[in-house]
Amino acid sequence: MVTNTRRAERHEGEPEVVELNPVFARPGESTAIPKFDFPSDEALPETAYQIVHDEAMLDGNARLNLATFVGTWMDDHAARLYIEAADKNMIDKDEYPQTAAVETRCWTMLADLWHAPDPKHTIGTSTIGSSEAAMLGGLALKRRWQHARREAGKPTDRPNLVLSSAVQVCWEKFCNYFEVEARYVPISLEHKVLDGHDLETYVDENTIGVVAIMGVTYTGMYEPVKQISAALDRIQESTGLDIPIHVDGASGGMIAPFVQPDLEWDFRVPRVASINTSGHKYGLVYPGLGWVVWRDVASLPEDLVFKVSYLGGDMPTFALNFSRPGAQVLLQYYLFIRLGRKGYETVQRTSRDVALYLSGEIAKMPAFELWNDGSDIPVFAWRLREGHTANWNLYHLSERLRTKGWLVPAYPMPADLTDLTVQRVVVRNGFSHDLASAFLADLRDEVAYLDALTGPMPAEGHRSGFHH
Ligand SMILES: Cc1ncc(COP(=O)(O)O)c(C=O)c1O
Repeated sequence: MVTNTRRAERHEGEPEVVELNPVFARPGESTAIPKFDFPSDEALPETAYQIVHDEAMLDGNARLNLATFVGTWMDDHAARLYIEAADKNMIDKDEYPQTAAVETRCWTMLADLWHAPDPKHTIGTSTIGSSEAAMLGGLALKRRWQHARREAGKPTDRPNLVLSSAVQVCWEKFCNYFEVEARYVPISLEHKVLDGHDLETYVDENTIGVVAIMGVTYTGMYEPVKQISAALDRIQESTGLDIPIHVDGASGGMIAPFVQPDLEWDFRVPRVASINTSGHKYGLVYPGLGWVVWRDVASLPEDLVFKVSYLGGDMPTFALNFSRPGAQVLLQYYLFIRLGRKGYETVQRTSRDVALYLSGEIAKMPAFELWNDGSDIPVFAWRLREGHTANWNLYHLSERLRTKGWLVPAYPMPADLTDLTVQRVVVRNGFSHDLASAFLADLRDEVAYLDALTGPMPAEGHRSGFHH
């Protein structure tokens, strides 16, 4: 426990008294602190620290969070770098030219990893996450389409973007904020992902692009980029429309190159104009980092790019936010050079092995039916087997698991499949085989508890769990 030692006021002739004033019992600590009114008084740093520390302690245990894709563990060297670099602002390229140079190295490495035709002569940027990266990708598609339309003397007022109904919310935001009509292709039991079927009924001359997701948030499944591209080739042959693809590789962009190196989903597919990923997901960095890379400089319209001069040259910048932390970029570079292709492959394959083990065991449980098994990204979802029980549902199970500390969200599938509820596990670095076994034991216990109920659970479990 932190204690506060101070010398009490000493009067002549009295022995020196050291007053031990333990935290939690000092003036101001035995009463509630203001929560919403701006505090009028100061507090000792130890007091303020302890209060904030204790508030944070009430959050869930990040390592038991099977809902998030975001990194919750880095090694001690990364922790040291993080503290050393906490003050760096990514936008201050004048003050932190080396961090800016490292940023460029990182996205150039990603361009290489994703088979850009000429990685050293393309363009990319770090962002605060995949959402910002996706918006930049979308904006570039929109602007390219606008330029082409204006050149052809055609109107530019009704752009649309074609995407799966299972896109992450960042794409709904993009379409809303930047006034682009979202054309959702519904997923179904036959077409569990956007796979190019019926695409010709969604695209037209106002389509700025098609989004393909490598690692659908709801289930972890890959969308077949090459197959989508082939459908667009056929559309081009019959209509002349040349529609680019943006790949949302928020998770899969850092899995596929290592686990499925032969799968062609990236710049090997000529129609892919840009790719985003989250450094803070399977890039293995703490939250606050995304990346977007374009196939080549021409894929990013120049009028979206601002030039800043530093290091004696002109550096292009394209981002929504101005200031943002630079530390995460250094952490990403640390991991790129620390792990390399070999290390990333080991880490990601280990996560996938754990996912396959877990999904295999869950498939054996009579209560469940798998939606997918985690062989794309190490993420999989299951549903309650039809007819298994009328007494409980996956929301109840989610709540029961929460009492053991596990966060495993249950949620409805997107439009047209909303009657279907699934539960999902995201396996990340740090979710070891042992932890997975402990989770399985708790899952079996909780299912046995629910199955033993003689009547229905009183109320449907609350829709807990943040799954995007
Ligand atoms: C497919 C997909 N795209 C985009 C995002 C948004 O990423 P971020 O949280 O990095 O903004 C997510 C997050 O889960 C995702 O799964």
